[in-house]
Amino acid sequence: MTTDNKSRPYPKLGLGLGLRHVHFDHILTEWPEVGWFEAISENFMFSAGRPRHVLRQVAERYPVVLHGVSLSIGSTSPLDYNYLKALKGLALEVQPQWISDHLCWTGVLSANTHDLLPLPLTEEAYRNTAERVKKVQDYLGRPLVLENPSTYLSFTHSTISEPEFLSRLVAETGCGLLLDVNNCYVTCFNSGLDPVAYIKALPHSSIAQMHLAGHQHCGTHIIDTHDRPVVDNVWELFRLAWSLTGGVSTLLEWDGNIPAFDECIAELNKAKQFMHDSVEQPVLKRELYSAQEALSTPIDFLVPQVMENTLAG
Ligand SMILES: [Fe+2]
Repeated sequence: MTTDNKSRPYPKLGLGLGLRHVHFDHILTEWPEVGWFEAISENFMFSAGRPRHVLRQVAERYPVVLHGVSLSIGSTSPLDYNYLKALKGLALEVQPQWISDHLCWTGVLSANTHDLLPLPLTEEAYRNTAERVKKVQDYLGRPLVLENPSTYLSFTHSTISEPEFLSRLVAETGCGLLLDVNNCYVTCFNSGLDPVAYIKALPHSSIAQMHLAGHQHCGTHIIDTHDRPVVDNVWELFRLAWSLTGGVSTLLEWDGNIPAFDECIAELNKAKQFMHDSVEQPVLKRELYSAQEALSTPIDFLVPQVMENTLAG
């Protein structure tokens, strides 16, 4: 099935927060003011226990979106219809605004690495992914929304840029996009690409949602840790993306060292400062980092030369 997402515009939900179990009690007692919640599908779809009970209650009061990490849309293994059946069952129960996952592969056969592994961006990988997106959309009966992943390497035999790969998927399958602005920044730094050009090259009218998150800068590379506030350069890129998309649903992801709910909301609300027209060419600053935070020194790592050239100061 090719889904025409032009006839099914994605609702604009405002600012939302990732639904995390440490906040369950706060949410269920305070019913705080927040535009929407995004639930990690795998944390709820295989269990009928308390998390699912909580999600059902949340879904009765707020718009929710299901966000997966194990669909493995880029894999060459057969699609896992047990996984899809459980996902569809959860969707029937909580009626998400849309269902998203990542442009990546996560393992082969039944082995799940629990990591979002990068694809070689080749014609062969494109054909494989496009056919699988169509099958998933057929099965779920709705468009799939795909997120750009954070990557730490690129393949020398890739022939298609990531924005072009995503644009072609949108045009052929009617899928939507989730632009993770932080992932864009991380990938571009790690691979020596220009994040402004990356964002400008996407099909903006098909972007259903954006993600914001914090990361760990290790000097030679950045790790997508989701364990701290959003950095200034990502806010500047968000300002650009907000303007180009006309302002789509935006969500803060915080997955490590998760602070109290109100602190997450305060970080999320910083987005309001950037939700207006952008200058065409944002000026990014050299990001400060602590050398003590470096986890490893990658071997023969790609020098982020292009991005260096875009950095000011
Ligand atoms: Fe994300």
